[in-house]
Amino acid sequence: MATLRLGDTAPDFTAETSQGTLNLYDYLGDSWGILFSHPADFTPVCTTELGTAAKFKDEFDKRNVKMMALSVDGVESHSEWIKDINETQNTLVNFPIVADEDKKVADLYDMIHPKADNNLTVRSVFIIAPDKSIKLILTYPASTGRNFYELLRVIDSLQLTAYHKVATPANWQNGEKVVVSPAIETGEAKELFPKGVEEIRPYLRMTPDPTN
Ligand code: BEZ
Repeated sequence: MATLRLGDTAPDFTAETSQGTLNLYDYLGDSWGILFSHPADFTPVCTTELGTAAKFKDEFDKRNVKMMALSVDGVESHSEWIKDINETQNTLVNFPIVADEDKKVADLYDMIHPKADNNLTVRSVFIIAPDKSIKLILTYPASTGRNFYELLRVIDSLQLTAYHKVATPANWQNGEKVVVSPAIETGEAKELFPKGVEEIRPYLRMTPDPTN
């Protein structure tokens, strides 16, 4: 299949998961979604990632984001592994993990990179908007665990910039000043952002977070 790119429609699928058979689109409904793959069950980095994801579930819920994880191991393996994750990471895994034994979903989302590993999924992340378009794609190697603070930060940026004519600068954190979209004239920006527009250069205009 062709490589997925930003703006493409997230391919729908129905798969066995640790919470039964699920269809991606039905599961997401009108929510945002995050689909993330792991190389394998009972591996150390994945164990910490899934434990962290479970601890962050409230934060994803606040942002109306549903999580779905995936590895190419089976449902029984997932069930045993979830017990281990709960015990070792002191949490409760509270989202489904796809059991992608036939690699159907991994193929759909191009999660197997043969030069990294022929059989195991890399650490892919797809953030999916309510209209099912793909808003973010990240790929990490097996040896590097993902930063879930960064995933929340980028979701904050995606949700803000989806509804306001702004962009978020380097290292931006929720609540900080944002960049006025380059597509807007400064005169129009001053009307759109009554809290003020600071014109550092004609192409670099800052404004307070319009939602605060
Ligand atoms: C891990 O999750 O710890 C891992 C998985 C595959 C290769 C290396 C590390």
